[in-house]
Amino acid sequence: MNSPSAEHLGAQHLASAAQAFGAGDLDAARLSLLEAVKLEPNNPEIHNGLSAVAYRQGDIGEAVKHIKAAISNAPGHWGFWKQLIEMLMDRALHADAAHACEQAAKHAGKNVELMNFWGVALQSTGDHLQASEKLEEGTRLDKSNATVHRNLSLNLMKLGRLEECVEAFTRSTTPYSPSPTTGDGVEPGPDIPVVEANYARLAGKYDANALHVRMVDRMYQLMIDTFGGETDGGINILDCACGTGLLGRKVRPLAKTLAGIDLSPDMIERAETSGNYDQLFVGDMAETMRGLPGKLDAKIEAKFDAIACNSAIYHVADLSPFFSAAAGLLSDGGYLFVSTDPCDDAFDIRETCANEYAHSRAYLRRLAEQNGLSVISITVMEHRAYPGFWCVFQL
Ligand SMILES: C[S@@+](CC[C@H](N)C(=O)[O-])C[C@H]1O[C@@H](n2cnc3c(N)ncnc32)[C@H](O)[C@@H]1O
Repeated sequence: MNSPSAEHLGAQHLASAAQAFGAGDLDAARLSLLEAVKLEPNNPEIHNGLSAVAYRQGDIGEAVKHIKAAISNAPGHWGFWKQLIEMLMDRALHADAAHACEQAAKHAGKNVELMNFWGVALQSTGDHLQASEKLEEGTRLDKSNATVHRNLSLNLMKLGRLEECVEAFTRSTTPYSPSPTTGDGVEPGPDIPVVEANYARLAGKYDANALHVRMVDRMYQLMIDTFGGETDGGINILDCACGTGLLGRKVRPLAKTLAGIDLSPDMIERAETSGNYDQLFVGDMAETMRGLPGKLDAKIEAKFDAIACNSAIYHVADLSPFFSAAAGLLSDGGYLFVSTDPCDDAFDIRETCANEYAHSRAYLRRLAEQNGLSVISITVMEHRAYPGFWCVFQL
């Protein structure tokens, strides 16, 4: 009887490694793979396995070494390139990642995922021009890939090409259509229980996210710039969709009184703990604002000098109830500050993803006008991870 070939034995070790890996026994998987690689030193799957184990064990150097060995034995395999690129991006080695993308394109061919990585890697090195080229090529490879349109949008914003940036973001969105069940023209809006459940999950880690803090800083700056500096603690502020109270922490020194509204009891519990708000309400923002005058504590005036709604109206499709309720609560000359996802003026509302919406400037301007507000500014700036509209209206 012939003894089993090295290939056969290698395959057996590979199979045991896969089983151990699946069971979470990384040391056993590694030992089987080391046996396998002795028998088949040029087998890309074995190197891929060793890379995956090393990565899971936190040994990035070893993971990169083995994925490179897999690639040198199977240069046309996109999956191996993808792992290498992801590892390099993870370690913020963006120039190396961009170089790997170039090599991957040469050996494995271009695809939208590769162009996305390439664009983001170049963008992270500050080369926005080349990044835009790669991302544009990605959009041509797959028009329906929302991520590549959004990355392009962000990159165009960094290049100062703001109208193209809004168009690119719009292409990442989908049409918003009235609910087929109502059939009466009533917009269906978001699924409120789903939004609430999402924030119940997020509440505990919300403040630790640097992006969330950055967006609050941006809204604060917009307010300060509008008021022409600090306000000596003399104004009444309503923080609409206040979340955990990140904005409240910043604006408290500006405020004579500070009230907050949020849909999520879990988020608002944290705002309460911050001790910065004079009064907090749980509920839908438009509905709660409408009923607010009769419910405010005596010390809070029923008219606000500033209503701020930071990174939240993208959860609302039809903004008419929001605008009319907000306008009704503003003092003469009071300001409404909002930020939202953007879409171009060919539309009023688009869907960014489930329960998230983009609004056009034409729509925002029209609602402002209908409610007696003048448009002070609508600026394109980073909103959440992508560009958005930052708006100041005044009664
Ligand atoms: C991204 S967070 C922003 C929170 C806060 N404005 C900040 O900047 O830290 C969005 C917030 O909007 C709230 N929200 C979503 N839809 C709402 C609605 N219809 N009425 C009131 N709050 C809503 C969520 O509960 C969540 O706290």
